[in-house]
Amino acid sequence: MDRAAAKVILLAVFLITATSDPVKKAQNVDVYSFHMNSTVTSRYATTTITSRVANKLNESQEILFEVKIPKNAFISKFRMIIEGTSYDGVVKEKAEAQQQYTQAVSRGQSAGLIKSVGRTLEEFKTSVTVAALSKVTFELTYEELLKRRLGKYELLINAQPMQTVTDFKIDVHVHEKTGISFLEVKGDLSTDDLTNAIKTTRADKDAWVTFYPTRDQQTKCKTCGENGLNGDLLITYDVERQNPNGEMTVSNGYFFHSFAPSDVSRISKNVVFIIDRSGSMHGKKMQQTRLALLKILSDLGENDHFGLITFDSRVDLWKRELLKATHANLEDAKSFVRKITDRGATDINAAVLEGVDMIKRHPREGTTSILILLTDGDPTSGETNTEKITGNVKVSIGSKFPLYCLGFGYDVNFDFLTKMSMENNGVARRIYEDSDADLQLQGFYDEVAVPLLTDIQLNYIGVSNLTQTSFNLYFNGSEIVVSGQITDNSVESVTTEIIAISKGSKVTYRDTVTAKDVSDVQPEHDNFLERLWAYLTVKQLLDRQVLLKGPEKEASRKEALNLSLKYQFVTSLTSMVVTKPQENQTEVANKPKEGETPQRPPVSARPGASRRFSGRVSYSRMGSYGGGRRGSRLQSSPAKSDPEVLGESGFMGIAYDDYSSSVTSDLHHAVAVPLAPFVPEVHLVTLVPEVPSHHFLLSADGQPRPLCFAVPLHYKLKLLEDSSIEFSMNGESGTSRHGFSQIAFRYKKTHHLVVNTTSINHHIDQENQQLFWGQNAQFNKDGVSVLISPSQVKITMGDFIISVLLHNNGDLFLWPKVEQYPQGSSPTGILGKASISYEKIKGSRTPTLKIMDKEVTASMADVSDYSRTSAPVIKCWLVPFEAVMNGNISDFTVTLL
Ligand SMILES: *[C@@H]1O[C@H](CO)[C@@H](O)[C@H](O)[C@H]1NC(C)=O
Ligand SMILES: *[C@@H]1O[C@H](CO)[C@@H](O)[C@H](O)[C@H]1NC(C)=O
Ligand SMILES: *[C@@H]1O[C@H](CO)[C@@H](O)[C@H](O)[C@H]1NC(C)=O
Ligand SMILES: *[C@@H]1O[C@H](CO)[C@@H](O)[C@H](O)[C@H]1NC(C)=O
Ligand SMILES: *[C@@H]1O[C@H](CO)[C@@H](O)[C@H](O)[C@H]1NC(C)=O
Repeated sequence: MDRAAAKVILLAVFLITATSDPVKKAQNVDVYSFHMNSTVTSRYATTTITSRVANKLNESQEILFEVKIPKNAFISKFRMIIEGTSYDGVVKEKAEAQQQYTQAVSRGQSAGLIKSVGRTLEEFKTSVTVAALSKVTFELTYEELLKRRLGKYELLINAQPMQTVTDFKIDVHVHEKTGISFLEVKGDLSTDDLTNAIKTTRADKDAWVTFYPTRDQQTKCKTCGENGLNGDLLITYDVERQNPNGEMTVSNGYFFHSFAPSDVSRISKNVVFIIDRSGSMHGKKMQQTRLALLKILSDLGENDHFGLITFDSRVDLWKRELLKATHANLEDAKSFVRKITDRGATDINAAVLEGVDMIKRHPREGTTSILILLTDGDPTSGETNTEKITGNVKVSIGSKFPLYCLGFGYDVNFDFLTKMSMENNGVARRIYEDSDADLQLQGFYDEVAVPLLTDIQLNYIGVSNLTQTSFNLYFNGSEIVVSGQITDNSVESVTTEIIAISKGSKVTYRDTVTAKDVSDVQPEHDNFLERLWAYLTVKQLLDRQVLLKGPEKEASRKEALNLSLKYQFVTSLTSMVVTKPQENQTEVANKPKEGETPQRPPVSARPGASRRFSGRVSYSRMGSYGGGRRGSRLQSSPAKSDPEVLGESGFMGIAYDDYSSSVTSDLHHAVAVPLAPFVPEVHLVTLVPEVPSHHFLLSADGQPRPLCFAVPLHYKLKLLEDSSIEFSMNGESGTSRHGFSQIAFRYKKTHHLVVNTTSINHHIDQENQQLFWGQNAQFNKDGVSVLISPSQVKITMGDFIISVLLHNNGDLFLWPKVEQYPQGSSPTGILGKASISYEKIKGSRTPTLKIMDKEVTASMADVSDYSRTSAPVIKCWLVPFEAVMNGNISDFTVTLL
């Protein structure tokens, strides 16, 4: 078939699928069987997805396999079976995989296999070309240790076979040898017409959940549609705990010990909340924080003591001392909380140190102390060097109590928060910017609300290769787990000893378990304890990487790598290489790093929101023009702003863009929206710009969706100017297609600072200073400070704080972000406005916005937000330049940088 014909077919696919009419899509692909089988033994869950698909065409075509799995899980097996031949994914060290398959990588395919979606899931996606009238079987296995939170374990199963399936089955078997105390099936698949497709069978130690919906039922649930099932099953359960010393499971030379007493009396706590109220917390975030704090205050126990600190560039204490959570004090605190408003910059260092001092000034016998920091940004004021801050905080806390860091939204430096909390025996948690952010904050607090034991040490005799055995705190509703190897397989018994502090006094739990009696695992799972041990060991080694340095770090990395390779886990150190039958094609699957990949908002948190985002190009027909790679190229075609691809492939891009946007358009509360790595950088829905352009995002006051506008590439632009303080920032795109190749700053006649993609050059009077990207460096001079981290430089000139981010997506370019505008100033330039207000006019046929008293036609666009390192794709209202800028483009150009 020639290319013209291929385009016609593609267009046809687009036309059918872009309209929401219930037109029956011609099914050239038949998913005739889709099974998900999950077995949970002692919290260790192994899930296998098997999808059998037939190519019904009499010519070869590409068939896609796309599933979502929990982020915490490691993929351990992937296999395709085509015409009796198996093609198995092989897990290799990342560097080796990359080197060996640079060709695949250079085609940009490595990024596509696994990506992060939403809060809890990752998507695995691959495709294979299947011959005429042939079949393919895809098989994916992943493993995870379920963690106990707030008194329960949760197994999440996402089902989205992308069409109705004759033979659809989910089978879950939970086996817990101490007995299952309760088990519930929730999730959006367990509602409406589907409930009677779910069957739960309970025995003492086992539970089976089956979900066998008919074809008809597969279209009828709230989140399902023409493309069949689309949603989650959430199986929550807890186990019986008769033995206060914890439960030991032994099998094949490995053991698993879990300890979760609940009959210990609670320890009263001293808790200090350190709340970021910097300008970026403006609006909804601040409001949700206040809401959560009010609720958290109401939940404090009456013997608890508490303190409140708010900070921007200044640190304010509600009260200098910790106060008892009496009714009167709580009411007083609540009225303080209601008045917290945003302002200023972010001095994390001073605020945390103040919190530490507050706790230290208030020693109380038999209590425990907790510091909780909530922030949504980088440190921008006071001490801004994150290494110094973590150092200061570590010294100040001196391991006396934990620091928990909550990172709100995507602008936080999550690595920094992770390091700081882990160094102080705490954890960092991400709070997703969404309608339920207040519930996320409360949920986190609930997990640490009831401390029962401190300084817990677990000791064993006759074992080796133990996972973590000492823990700072144990909270009600959680669980302490340890796994290891039995050194001598002939031992009759294993002795456990747990020493801990309860309300200031030492408690000891001792037990001896007969190693012979405790193994009652089904023979087909007899190596599950070994895999559980390997999983937990690798997770803990990877977590600890952030705390280690030098040879110690390397040794621990090597150990994690060895285990990942041995057990074929796809972790951050390994990649899975998938070789396909045609053309010796290979793809490489890497586990995305938390926070690094742009995220899709969690749909489950938004009632009524449809989840139909994966219908996109699902089984569209691509085989006829050159097999799988062709299909991928279609999706990876660069932005239409790319001058080289306007034309033929640009045309294809439009079809894809429109489609993907039609299925995601209901996600308008999105703070960050889906970014398939294949998706063009900027894809517009109705406008194809004549000239290659930059797209600027402009946040909107009180509106979920920002505005965006295009600026042609070939100008030198006035980005920001405040003549009252002799400050300017101008940018030039040069050869970059996505951003700037050079950004120049001028300040007070004496300073001229030029940032390009290789270096940062500062001229002060006669003095020149040159620094290069990729290093950490800093200099200060006459009210100008420049802080360089590997791919970001933060420039402070007077009260302006501007970050310039260095991006490399094949195109190396810069993008500026104004972190702080001076108070009371009204700068000009394209970035002169921090935000704008608009109203959406209801009832108009085409989307119309009212901006600065004018009605403007807008269209929905997806624009990469380059002011964030991860460059998430953001949905925005695309409006003409003039509608937001008080002038036309020529008013915003300069002749000299
Ligand atoms: C699920 O997997 C287990 C273990 O591999 C196996 O014994 C069982 O038969 C499977 N169940 C189904 C319904 O395929
Ligand atoms: C495929 O089917 C079409 C129409 O059914 C037929 O014309 C064509 O010859 C078939 N091609 C092959 C290779 O069998
Ligand atoms: C711990 O939680 C359980 C149930 O969630 C509750 O029954 C128990 O009383 C709690 N223990 C304490 C000390 O609060
Ligand atoms: C990892 O495995 C290699 C070879 O299998 C071995 O030489 C090395 O000592 C192992 N390293 C660690 C840290 O276990
Ligand atoms: C595929 O690999 C085999 C063995 O490495 C080689 O002989 C063959 O030419 C390759 N085929 C293609 C299309 O590259």
